[in-house]
Amino acid sequence: MASLISDTDAWKNLKAHVEDINKTHLRDLMSDAARCNSLMVEYDGILLDYSRQRVNSDTIGKLFKLAEAANLKEKINRMYNGEHINSTENRAVLHVALRAARDATIQSNGKNVVPDVWNVLDKIQDFSEKVRNGSWVGATGKPLKDVVAIGIGGSFLGPLFVHTALQTDPEAIKSAEGRQLRFLANVDPIDVAKNITGLNPETTLVVVVSKTFTTAETMLNARTLREWISAALGPSAVAKHMVAVSTNLPLVEKFGIDPNNAFAFWDWVGGRYSVCSAVGVLPLSLQYGFSVVEKFLKGASSIDQHFYTSPFEKNIPVLLGLLSVWNVSFLGHAARAILPYSQALEKFAPHIQQVSMESNGKGVSIDGVPLPFEAGEIDFGEPGTNGQHSFYQLIHQGRVIPCDFIGVVKSQQPVYLKGEVVSNHDELMSNFFAQPDALAYGKTPEQLHKENVPEHLISHKTFSGNRPSLSILLPSLSAYNIGQLLAIYEHRIAVEGFVWGINSFDQWGVELGKSLATQVRKQLNASRTKGQPIEGFNHSTTTLLKRYLEASSD
Ligand code: F6P
Repeated sequence: MASLISDTDAWKNLKAHVEDINKTHLRDLMSDAARCNSLMVEYDGILLDYSRQRVNSDTIGKLFKLAEAANLKEKINRMYNGEHINSTENRAVLHVALRAARDATIQSNGKNVVPDVWNVLDKIQDFSEKVRNGSWVGATGKPLKDVVAIGIGGSFLGPLFVHTALQTDPEAIKSAEGRQLRFLANVDPIDVAKNITGLNPETTLVVVVSKTFTTAETMLNARTLREWISAALGPSAVAKHMVAVSTNLPLVEKFGIDPNNAFAFWDWVGGRYSVCSAVGVLPLSLQYGFSVVEKFLKGASSIDQHFYTSPFEKNIPVLLGLLSVWNVSFLGHAARAILPYSQALEKFAPHIQQVSMESNGKGVSIDGVPLPFEAGEIDFGEPGTNGQHSFYQLIHQGRVIPCDFIGVVKSQQPVYLKGEVVSNHDELMSNFFAQPDALAYGKTPEQLHKENVPEHLISHKTFSGNRPSLSILLPSLSAYNIGQLLAIYEHRIAVEGFVWGINSFDQWGVELGKSLATQVRKQLNASRTKGQPIEGFNHSTTTLLKRYLEASSD
């Protein structure tokens, strides 16, 4: 039988080590400046401080032993070498090739894929410039100012995150002047209405983004917007107003989009890892221009190099991944809060939710052996300080949830109010610096007594502290930094999966719901068109379906 990581001595040693760590408190660990200093890493302008993790040098040593037992370095190399590490789908995992330099060599099945990547990037640059400078116009001769990108899951969340982050960058704002980019993801007709409200089909370009070009929600939304364009401008207008991003070019053509207006990517790009392919690069280039998006790709590429070449002690994604495994599998903290102190990063947590939970939410090892431990993390988050007024109460005094604090040194939109010494950004960052210490140190009954807190409130106002967090400080939120942040998290999640010994690159768990929805859709159709009775479902589903049909038919 294939071996599991939990059978190794490295895993067992960490299990035993939990008892040692339980004897410590972050209050004491933080008083050791040398320890804190050893738990900080810097790379290309990014500072990671993980001194508020419940670790000592022994823990870190043992985590490196775990990495060794999991063959982490070898697995990273296999990914970069284009081996089919996504074994259940027999695919390579090469999103790093999407942001590789033009002259780099990255092989998949014995072929250097970088020239293919750059052919598509060049095509995007050419097309987006034509649309932006008005040499590609709509069916009635008007320039296309607005873009609706249709897609869901990985074909939506990553591009939305980057778009939201760029929206407040001065350079990006300037290059997006007079243009709009919207995302239509949900099959809910409300989302369609919301996204076409205020748009004129004559000046709108629709980008259908789907790796498979079979996703039910995306295809229905694509048909809906095709109808919207045809009804206003005639069916021939589709050629000028609809383009596609997909790995499935035959289906793109069958849908009625000219293959010349299709932007390819490849089966070695997982949906949730596809933001650096045409999936993100096309809509973002249409909005901001290719040169801005190229900087984003360069930032991601810088982290790709760091992840591939840096020793583990200095390797930000590796350290983050190992610490996550420590928190989840040894300290028993199933959740992780992602807390950017930056409104521009408001869509970062929703994107990472998919990357992390679709990647690592698995129940068996890569060899199909049921895991005797729970893999994956529950990711959630909100920008600070909003989150502080929402769920932080639970994090401070309820459950222990390791937190990622993400801060930015320079605001893209600084405000200095007359007469106030502390800028608005300083105010925001004061909270970024304060929260990790509040979690780590807490507040003792002794401190409260000294403050003359009434006896009946002592227990209510006590904070146990000893709650782990880490801080990531970015120099700014330029396109380059956004690319870096994305790649750090992508690789961190891969590290976790490599150590747990699972396949982080398939997603069989989403299939069952999809096939059950197909059965329901068929029955709804048969009932509405032929009056056929609802059958084949359990009592609960049958009752709900009947109620829905009865109430929605009048
Ligand atoms: O949610 C399942 C999933 O397959 C994701 O992995 C993917 O990103 C999403 O659906 C959309 O798929 P597609 O790009 O093929 O439309």
